[in-house]
Amino acid sequence: MSVDLRTRVDGEQASVEASQFFRETLPGLLDVHHGLIAPGASELALPNFCIETEGESWTLAWSGDRVSVEPGHGGEARVRLSAQQLDDIVNDQSTPIALMSNNLLDMPEGSLPDFLNWWLVLRAALDARRIHASGDVTLDGEGHRSFSLDDSDETMRAFLEEYGYLHIRGLFSEEEMAAVEADFPVAAPHFEKGDPQAWFATTQDDTEHLVRMEGFDRYSQASIDLIDQARFQRIGGIPGIGHDQSSRKPGTRVGALSKPIGVVKGISDVPWHKDCSLGRHSYECCNLTVGISVTGADADSGQLRVLAGSHRALIWPAPCVQPGLDLEPVDLPTRTGDVTVHLSCTQHMSQPPVKKTRKVLYTGFGQQPADPEAADLQRRRLHDVRKKTHTSVSQEPGYLGED
Ligand SMILES: [Fe+2]
Repeated sequence: MSVDLRTRVDGEQASVEASQFFRETLPGLLDVHHGLIAPGASELALPNFCIETEGESWTLAWSGDRVSVEPGHGGEARVRLSAQQLDDIVNDQSTPIALMSNNLLDMPEGSLPDFLNWWLVLRAALDARRIHASGDVTLDGEGHRSFSLDDSDETMRAFLEEYGYLHIRGLFSEEEMAAVEADFPVAAPHFEKGDPQAWFATTQDDTEHLVRMEGFDRYSQASIDLIDQARFQRIGGIPGIGHDQSSRKPGTRVGALSKPIGVVKGISDVPWHKDCSLGRHSYECCNLTVGISVTGADADSGQLRVLAGSHRALIWPAPCVQPGLDLEPVDLPTRTGDVTVHLSCTQHMSQPPVKKTRKVLYTGFGQQPADPEAADLQRRRLHDVRKKTHTSVSQEPGYLGED
Protein backbone atom coordinates (compact mmCIF):
# COMPACT_ATOMS: atom_id res chain seq x y z
CA MET A 1 0.00 0.00 0.00
CA SER A 2 2.04 2.96 -1.28
CA VAL A 3 1.38 6.45 0.07
CA ASP A 4 1.83 7.86 -3.45
CA LEU A 5 -1.80 8.78 -4.19
CA ARG A 6 -1.11 11.10 -7.12
CA THR A 7 -3.33 10.66 -10.16
CA ARG A 8 -2.89 14.00 -11.96
CA VAL A 9 -0.02 15.91 -13.51
CA ASP A 10 0.07 19.70 -13.76
CA GLY A 11 0.03 20.93 -17.33
CA GLU A 12 -1.91 17.90 -18.56
CA GLN A 13 -5.36 18.94 -17.34
CA ALA A 14 -7.90 20.16 -19.89
CA SER A 15 -9.71 23.39 -19.07
CA VAL A 16 -13.37 23.03 -18.23
CA GLU A 17 -16.18 24.30 -20.44
CA ALA A 18 -19.18 24.36 -18.13
CA SER A 19 -21.92 23.41 -20.56
CA GLN A 20 -20.05 20.44 -21.96
CA PHE A 21 -18.91 19.39 -18.50
CA PHE A 22 -22.42 19.25 -16.99
CA ARG A 23 -24.14 17.87 -20.11
CA GLU A 24 -21.64 15.18 -21.09
CA THR A 25 -18.48 14.72 -19.02
CA LEU A 26 -19.98 14.59 -15.54
CA PRO A 27 -23.03 12.40 -16.29
CA GLY A 28 -20.73 9.93 -18.06
CA LEU A 29 -18.30 9.77 -15.13
CA LEU A 30 -21.13 9.46 -12.59
CA ASP A 31 -22.32 6.40 -14.50
CA VAL A 32 -18.89 4.81 -14.89
CA HIS A 33 -18.03 5.29 -11.22
CA HIS A 34 -21.43 4.52 -9.76
CA GLY A 35 -19.96 1.71 -7.66
CA LEU A 36 -17.48 4.10 -6.04
CA ILE A 37 -20.14 6.70 -5.33
CA ALA A 38 -23.30 4.92 -4.17
CA PRO A 39 -22.24 3.24 -0.87
CA GLY A 40 -20.68 6.40 0.62
CA ALA A 41 -23.19 8.81 -0.89
CA SER A 42 -26.08 6.88 0.64
CA GLU A 43 -24.68 7.84 4.08
CA LEU A 44 -24.57 11.56 3.23
CA ALA A 45 -27.24 14.26 3.32
CA LEU A 46 -27.49 15.26 -0.35
CA PRO A 47 -30.17 17.90 -0.88
CA ASN A 48 -30.58 18.96 -4.51
CA PHE A 49 -27.57 21.10 -5.27
CA CYS A 50 -27.37 23.84 -7.86
CA ILE A 51 -24.10 25.03 -9.38
CA GLU A 52 -24.39 28.41 -11.09
CA THR A 53 -21.63 29.61 -13.35
CA GLU A 54 -21.43 32.35 -15.95
CA GLY A 55 -25.19 32.88 -15.88
CA GLU A 56 -26.12 29.22 -16.34
CA SER A 57 -27.28 26.71 -13.72
CA TRP A 58 -27.19 22.94 -13.34
CA THR A 59 -28.76 20.94 -10.56
CA LEU A 60 -27.35 17.73 -9.12
CA ALA A 61 -29.93 15.45 -7.51
CA TRP A 62 -29.57 12.20 -5.55
CA SER A 63 -32.45 9.83 -6.08
CA GLY A 64 -32.56 6.09 -5.41
CA ASP A 65 -28.84 5.41 -5.52
CA ARG A 66 -28.09 7.55 -8.55
CA VAL A 67 -27.03 11.13 -9.25
CA SER A 68 -28.73 13.07 -12.03
CA VAL A 69 -27.54 16.33 -13.58
CA GLU A 70 -30.20 18.62 -15.04
CA PRO A 71 -29.98 22.13 -16.49
CA GLY A 72 -31.68 24.83 -14.46
CA HIS A 73 -32.06 25.76 -10.82
CA GLY A 74 -33.93 23.15 -8.83
CA GLY A 75 -31.64 23.19 -5.84
CA GLU A 76 -32.26 23.46 -2.12
CA ALA A 77 -28.63 24.51 -1.91
CA ARG A 78 -26.84 26.68 -4.44
CA VAL A 79 -23.28 27.82 -5.06
CA ARG A 80 -22.15 30.48 -7.50
CA LEU A 81 -18.76 29.81 -9.09
CA SER A 82 -16.79 31.84 -11.60
CA ALA A 83 -15.56 29.92 -14.66
CA GLN A 84 -12.06 29.83 -13.11
CA GLN A 85 -13.39 28.58 -9.76
CA LEU A 86 -15.33 25.80 -11.48
CA ASP A 87 -12.26 24.87 -13.49
CA ASP A 88 -10.14 24.78 -10.33
CA ILE A 89 -12.66 22.67 -8.40
CA VAL A 90 -13.05 20.17 -11.27
CA ASN A 91 -9.28 19.94 -11.81
CA ASP A 92 -8.65 19.59 -8.05
CA GLN A 93 -6.65 22.80 -7.77
CA SER A 94 -9.17 24.21 -5.32
CA THR A 95 -11.88 23.00 -2.93
CA PRO A 96 -14.93 24.35 -1.10
CA ILE A 97 -12.63 24.75 1.91
CA ALA A 98 -10.28 26.99 -0.09
CA LEU A 99 -13.23 29.16 -1.14
CA MET A 100 -14.60 29.29 2.41
CA SER A 101 -11.31 30.09 4.09
CA ASN A 102 -10.60 32.94 1.68
CA ASN A 103 -14.10 34.41 2.01
CA LEU A 104 -14.90 33.53 -1.61
CA LEU A 105 -17.66 31.01 -0.94
CA ASP A 106 -20.84 32.40 -2.52
CA MET A 107 -23.81 30.26 -1.43
CA PRO A 108 -27.13 32.14 -1.48
CA GLU A 109 -28.92 28.96 -0.31
CA GLY A 110 -27.63 26.07 1.78
CA SER A 111 -24.19 26.06 3.40
CA LEU A 112 -20.71 24.58 3.37
CA PRO A 113 -21.74 21.05 4.52
CA ASP A 114 -24.03 20.74 1.47
CA PHE A 115 -21.18 21.71 -0.84
CA LEU A 116 -18.73 19.38 0.95
CA ASN A 117 -21.07 16.38 0.65
CA TRP A 118 -21.54 17.04 -3.06
CA TRP A 119 -17.82 17.71 -3.46
CA LEU A 120 -17.22 14.12 -2.30
CA VAL A 121 -19.52 12.93 -5.09
CA LEU A 122 -17.71 15.10 -7.63
CA ARG A 123 -14.28 13.89 -6.49
CA ALA A 124 -15.35 10.27 -6.66
CA ALA A 125 -16.61 10.77 -10.23
CA LEU A 126 -13.67 12.89 -11.39
CA ASP A 127 -10.84 11.02 -9.65
CA ALA A 128 -12.27 7.47 -9.69
CA ARG A 129 -11.97 7.37 -5.92
CA ARG A 130 -14.43 5.66 -3.59
CA ILE A 131 -16.36 7.90 -1.19
CA HIS A 132 -15.70 6.65 2.32
CA ALA A 133 -18.49 4.46 3.67
CA SER A 134 -18.67 3.16 7.25
CA GLY A 135 -16.36 0.22 7.76
CA ASP A 136 -14.18 0.94 4.71
CA VAL A 137 -11.05 1.78 6.69
CA THR A 138 -9.90 -0.92 9.06
CA LEU A 139 -6.74 -0.75 11.15
CA ASP A 140 -5.38 -4.25 11.34
CA GLY A 141 -2.05 -3.59 13.06
CA GLU A 142 -1.31 -3.72 16.75
CA GLY A 143 -2.84 -0.29 17.38
CA HIS A 144 -1.45 3.09 18.30
CA ARG A 145 2.24 3.02 19.14
CA SER A 146 5.36 5.14 18.96
CA PHE A 147 8.80 4.35 17.55
CA SER A 148 12.45 4.92 18.41
CA LEU A 149 15.52 5.30 16.21
CA ASP A 150 16.15 1.58 16.73
CA ASP A 151 13.04 0.63 14.77
CA SER A 152 13.60 -0.21 11.11
CA ASP A 153 12.35 1.89 8.20
CA GLU A 154 10.23 -1.08 7.11
CA THR A 155 8.44 -1.29 10.46
CA MET A 156 7.73 2.43 10.43
CA ARG A 157 6.69 2.33 6.76
CA ALA A 158 4.09 -0.35 7.43
CA PHE A 159 2.62 1.69 10.28
CA LEU A 160 2.68 4.95 8.27
CA GLU A 161 0.92 3.33 5.32
CA GLU A 162 -1.79 1.93 7.53
CA TYR A 163 -2.30 4.66 10.14
CA GLY A 164 -1.10 7.77 8.26
CA TYR A 165 1.23 9.07 10.99
CA LEU A 166 4.31 8.28 13.07
CA HIS A 167 5.55 9.37 16.46
CA ILE A 168 9.33 8.94 16.74
CA ARG A 169 10.66 9.38 20.26
CA GLY A 170 13.92 11.05 21.17
CA LEU A 171 15.20 11.97 17.71
CA PHE A 172 16.85 15.04 19.21
CA SER A 173 18.27 15.78 22.66
CA GLU A 174 17.06 18.40 25.14
CA GLU A 175 20.30 20.36 24.50
CA GLU A 176 19.68 20.41 20.76
CA MET A 177 16.15 21.64 21.31
CA ALA A 178 17.36 24.31 23.76
CA ALA A 179 19.69 25.62 21.03
CA VAL A 180 16.75 25.89 18.62
CA GLU A 181 14.55 27.51 21.26
CA ALA A 182 17.21 30.15 21.83
CA ASP A 183 16.82 31.19 18.17
CA PHE A 184 13.11 32.06 18.56
CA PRO A 185 13.75 35.53 20.07
CA VAL A 186 16.63 36.05 17.62
CA ALA A 187 14.36 35.44 14.63
CA ALA A 188 11.25 37.22 15.95
CA PRO A 189 12.29 40.84 15.25
CA HIS A 190 12.57 39.96 11.53
CA PHE A 191 8.83 39.14 11.33
CA GLU A 192 6.47 42.09 11.17
CA LYS A 193 2.72 42.56 10.80
CA GLY A 194 1.72 42.38 7.15
CA ASP A 195 4.53 39.96 6.25
CA PRO A 196 2.83 36.84 4.83
CA GLN A 197 5.61 34.81 6.47
CA ALA A 198 4.46 36.00 9.90
CA TRP A 199 1.28 34.84 11.62
CA PHE A 200 -0.07 36.82 14.54
CA ALA A 201 -2.79 35.94 17.05
CA THR A 202 -4.49 37.89 19.82
CA THR A 203 -5.10 36.38 23.25
CA GLN A 204 -7.93 37.07 25.72
CA ASP A 205 -5.94 39.86 27.40
CA ASP A 206 -5.86 41.67 24.04
CA THR A 207 -2.13 41.03 23.54
CA GLU A 208 -0.95 40.28 20.01
CA HIS A 209 1.60 37.46 19.69
CA LEU A 210 3.85 36.38 16.85
CA VAL A 211 2.77 32.72 16.60
CA ARG A 212 4.33 31.46 13.40
CA MET A 213 7.55 32.32 11.59
CA GLU A 214 7.72 30.82 8.10
CA GLY A 215 11.30 30.61 6.85
CA PHE A 216 12.66 30.38 10.41
CA ASP A 217 15.75 28.70 8.93
CA ARG A 218 16.87 32.12 7.63
CA TYR A 219 17.66 33.04 11.22
CA SER A 220 18.36 29.70 12.87
CA GLN A 221 21.52 27.84 11.91
CA ALA A 222 20.75 25.44 14.77
CA SER A 223 17.56 24.28 13.04
CA ILE A 224 19.37 23.82 9.69
CA ASP A 225 22.12 21.80 11.37
CA LEU A 226 19.53 19.46 12.87
CA ILE A 227 17.37 18.84 9.80
CA ASP A 228 20.45 18.26 7.62
CA GLN A 229 21.58 15.40 9.83
CA ALA A 230 21.23 11.85 8.52
CA ARG A 231 19.04 10.81 11.47
CA PHE A 232 16.48 13.43 10.39
CA GLN A 233 16.83 13.03 6.61
CA ARG A 234 16.19 9.32 7.15
CA ILE A 235 12.50 10.21 7.64
CA GLY A 236 12.16 11.08 3.92
CA GLY A 237 13.18 7.52 3.09
CA ILE A 238 10.59 5.83 5.31
CA PRO A 239 7.79 5.67 2.68
CA GLY A 240 10.34 4.20 0.24
CA ILE A 241 9.18 6.23 -2.76
CA GLY A 242 11.69 9.07 -3.04
CA HIS A 243 10.51 11.78 -0.68
CA ASP A 244 13.09 14.56 -0.24
CA GLN A 245 13.35 18.21 0.69
CA SER A 246 14.38 19.50 -2.74
CA SER A 247 11.24 21.60 -3.16
CA ARG A 248 12.05 23.46 0.04
CA LYS A 249 14.53 26.13 -0.98
CA PRO A 250 16.94 27.55 1.62
CA GLY A 251 15.07 30.09 3.70
CA THR A 252 11.75 28.27 3.24
CA ARG A 253 12.56 24.98 4.89
CA VAL A 254 11.30 25.45 8.42
CA GLY A 255 8.29 27.06 10.08
CA ALA A 256 8.54 27.86 13.80
CA LEU A 257 5.38 27.96 15.88
CA SER A 258 4.93 29.39 19.32
CA LYS A 259 1.47 28.65 20.69
CA PRO A 260 0.12 30.98 23.37
CA ILE A 261 -2.81 30.15 25.66
CA GLY A 262 -6.23 31.66 25.04
CA VAL A 263 -6.13 32.79 21.41
CA VAL A 264 -9.35 34.61 20.49
CA LYS A 265 -8.38 36.14 17.14
CA GLY A 266 -6.11 34.94 14.35
CA ILE A 267 -4.83 31.42 14.40
CA SER A 268 -2.03 29.50 16.03
CA ASP A 269 -3.78 26.13 16.28
CA VAL A 270 -5.33 24.94 13.07
CA PRO A 271 -8.64 23.02 13.42
CA TRP A 272 -9.19 19.59 11.82
CA HIS A 273 -7.88 19.56 8.26
CA LYS A 274 -5.97 17.58 5.71
CA ASP A 275 -2.99 19.52 4.39
CA CYS A 276 -4.55 19.04 0.94
CA SER A 277 -7.84 20.59 2.12
CA LEU A 278 -7.26 23.68 -0.05
CA GLY A 279 -6.71 21.54 -3.15
CA ARG A 280 -4.07 19.64 -5.18
CA HIS A 281 -4.51 16.30 -3.40
CA SER A 282 -4.35 14.41 -6.69
CA TYR A 283 -1.15 16.24 -7.75
CA GLU A 284 0.86 16.10 -4.54
CA CYS A 285 -0.32 13.61 -1.94
CA CYS A 286 1.16 12.29 0.06
CA ASN A 287 3.69 14.80 1.25
CA LEU A 288 5.15 14.22 4.70
CA THR A 289 4.84 16.91 7.35
CA VAL A 290 7.25 16.61 10.24
CA GLY A 291 6.77 18.39 13.57
CA ILE A 292 9.80 18.71 15.85
CA SER A 293 8.82 19.18 19.49
CA VAL A 294 11.08 21.99 20.68
CA THR A 295 9.04 21.78 23.87
CA GLY A 296 6.90 18.75 24.75
CA ALA A 297 3.16 18.73 24.20
CA ASP A 298 0.10 17.06 25.70
CA ALA A 299 -3.63 17.69 26.05
CA ASP A 300 -2.91 20.83 28.09
CA SER A 301 -0.12 22.16 25.92
CA GLY A 302 -1.00 22.06 22.25
CA GLN A 303 -0.52 18.45 21.19
CA LEU A 304 -1.17 17.19 17.66
CA ARG A 305 -4.19 14.93 17.13
CA VAL A 306 -4.73 12.78 14.06
CA LEU A 307 -7.56 10.72 12.59
CA ALA A 308 -5.89 7.36 12.15
CA GLY A 309 -6.35 5.93 8.65
CA SER A 310 -8.04 9.06 7.26
CA HIS A 311 -5.49 9.33 4.41
CA ARG A 312 -7.21 6.27 2.97
CA ALA A 313 -10.67 7.85 3.13
CA LEU A 314 -12.34 10.31 0.75
CA ILE A 315 -14.01 12.44 3.42
CA TRP A 316 -14.48 16.13 4.22
CA PRO A 317 -10.92 17.49 4.28
CA ALA A 318 -11.82 20.20 6.86
CA PRO A 319 -12.99 22.18 8.89
CA CYS A 320 -14.07 19.53 11.42
CA VAL A 321 -14.40 15.79 11.67
CA GLN A 322 -17.09 14.82 9.16
CA PRO A 323 -20.35 14.24 11.09
CA GLY A 324 -20.94 10.53 11.68
CA LEU A 325 -17.45 9.48 10.57
CA ASP A 326 -16.32 6.13 11.98
CA LEU A 327 -12.63 7.03 12.38
CA GLU A 328 -11.11 7.69 15.80
CA PRO A 329 -8.95 10.67 16.80
CA VAL A 330 -5.60 9.74 18.32
CA ASP A 331 -3.72 12.07 20.70
CA LEU A 332 -0.01 12.44 19.99
CA PRO A 333 1.60 13.70 23.21
CA THR A 334 5.32 14.28 22.72
CA ARG A 335 8.39 15.07 24.79
CA THR A 336 11.07 17.57 23.95
CA GLY A 337 13.08 16.21 20.98
CA ASP A 338 10.37 13.85 19.70
CA VAL A 339 9.05 14.20 16.16
CA THR A 340 5.64 13.53 14.65
CA VAL A 341 5.21 12.69 10.99
CA HIS A 342 1.89 12.83 9.19
CA LEU A 343 0.83 12.38 5.60
CA SER A 344 -0.65 15.44 3.88
CA CYS A 345 -4.02 13.74 3.62
CA THR A 346 -4.16 12.39 7.15
CA GLN A 347 -6.66 14.63 8.91
CA HIS A 348 -5.18 16.35 11.93
CA MET A 349 -5.55 19.30 14.28
CA SER A 350 -3.48 20.98 16.93
CA GLN A 351 -5.23 21.21 20.24
CA PRO A 352 -5.28 24.77 21.60
CA PRO A 353 -3.12 24.86 24.73
CA VAL A 354 -4.87 25.59 28.02
CA LYS A 355 -2.09 25.37 30.64
CA LYS A 356 1.31 25.55 28.97
CA THR A 357 2.55 27.24 25.81
CA ARG A 358 4.25 25.16 23.18
CA LYS A 359 7.05 25.58 20.64
CA VAL A 360 7.35 23.36 17.59
CA LEU A 361 9.14 23.41 14.24
CA TYR A 362 7.47 22.18 11.08
CA THR A 363 9.21 21.01 7.95
CA GLY A 364 8.51 18.26 5.47
CA PHE A 365 9.37 16.03 2.57
CA GLY A 366 7.72 15.77 -0.85
CA GLN A 367 7.96 13.86 -4.09
CA GLN A 368 9.32 15.38 -7.29
CA PRO A 369 6.43 16.38 -9.59
CA ALA A 370 6.43 14.86 -13.09
CA ASP A 371 6.48 18.40 -14.53
CA PRO A 372 8.13 20.66 -11.93
CA GLU A 373 7.70 23.85 -14.01
CA ALA A 374 3.95 23.34 -14.52
CA ALA A 375 3.55 22.44 -10.84
CA ASP A 376 5.42 25.58 -9.78
CA LEU A 377 3.25 27.73 -12.06
CA GLN A 378 0.04 26.41 -10.48
CA ARG A 379 1.36 26.72 -6.94
CA ARG A 380 2.31 30.35 -7.53
CA ARG A 381 -1.05 31.12 -9.14
CA LEU A 382 -2.89 29.70 -6.13
CA HIS A 383 -0.56 31.25 -3.57
CA ASP A 384 -2.10 34.71 -3.83
CA VAL A 385 -5.56 33.35 -3.11
CA ARG A 386 -4.42 31.15 -0.26
CA LYS A 387 -2.06 33.43 1.58
CA LYS A 388 -4.81 35.01 3.69
CA THR A 389 -6.17 31.67 4.91
CA HIS A 390 -4.51 31.85 8.31
CA THR A 391 -6.24 35.11 9.15
CA SER A 392 -9.74 33.81 8.43
CA VAL A 393 -9.90 30.48 10.26
CA SER A 394 -9.87 30.22 14.04
CA GLN A 395 -10.88 27.91 16.85
CA GLU A 396 -11.81 28.49 20.47
CA PRO A 397 -9.35 27.59 23.23
CA GLY A 398 -9.94 23.94 24.17
CA TYR A 399 -11.95 23.28 20.98
CA LEU A 400 -11.77 19.66 19.77
CA GLY A 401 -13.78 19.90 16.54
CA GLU A 402 -15.80 16.74 17.02
CA ASP A 403 -19.56 16.47 17.22
FE1 LIG B 1 -1.67 20.72 8.70
